[in-house]
Amino acid sequence: MIIAVDGPAAAGKGTLSRNIAEAFDFAHLDTGSIYRATAKKVLDNGIDPEDDAACADIARNLTADDITSDGLRTEAVGQAASKVSAIPAVRAALLDFQRDFANTPPHGKAGAVLDGRDVGTVVCPEAQVKIFITADTEVRGERRFKELQSAGQNAIYARVLEEMKERDERDSSRSVAPLKPADDAIVIDTGKLDAQQVFDQALEIIRSRQP
Ligand code: DC
Repeated sequence: MIIAVDGPAAAGKGTLSRNIAEAFDFAHLDTGSIYRATAKKVLDNGIDPEDDAACADIARNLTADDITSDGLRTEAVGQAASKVSAIPAVRAALLDFQRDFANTPPHGKAGAVLDGRDVGTVVCPEAQVKIFITADTEVRGERRFKELQSAGQNAIYARVLEEMKERDERDSSRSVAPLKPADDAIVIDTGKLDAQQVFDQALEIIRSRQP
């Protein structure tokens, strides 16, 4: 079974996907980490995140270790990830890895949960369950701000909010695989829900789709 969880930054995709994967003993792939890993290598090598050919080259040579490397969750890497992910050749280079993970989950697991922006629309349009989670920008900005603070990073709320708006705008308006719910996705607004309530709604959706 393939479960797609898409949505904008800080909507709660990671928490929900991890909870689903644990409950069903499925594999989980945070597809954002692949774009972040590409972006981090681009920055570390002094490459311009808008240099299409050089970024695509980095994406084609990404290793499993790169995806789990430290330092992927910073705002600078997130912004650069949003830029490199708008390059069609970068997206194409990362597609097979995501599809292989979904179709043949590691450790022989019976299913996979993939979270990102275009899992339900482009990566796995055949997914049995498609959930799109979202919340107002202010709510998500505050969540991200608290996350950064508790990770010991020096954050300013107004700046975090501004960067989030910029990233949402870029991710939604790019020409390839823009952020948008699939036609058959179920949308959950997580603004007034806690993680358990979001999980409960998702469980109902998944159970209704199980054979
Ligand atoms: O979910 P995240 O914040 O880790 O994602 C970082 C960036 O990667 C995001 O701004 C856009 C890009 N991304 C994407 O284009 N497609 C995905 N499936 C996942 C992430």
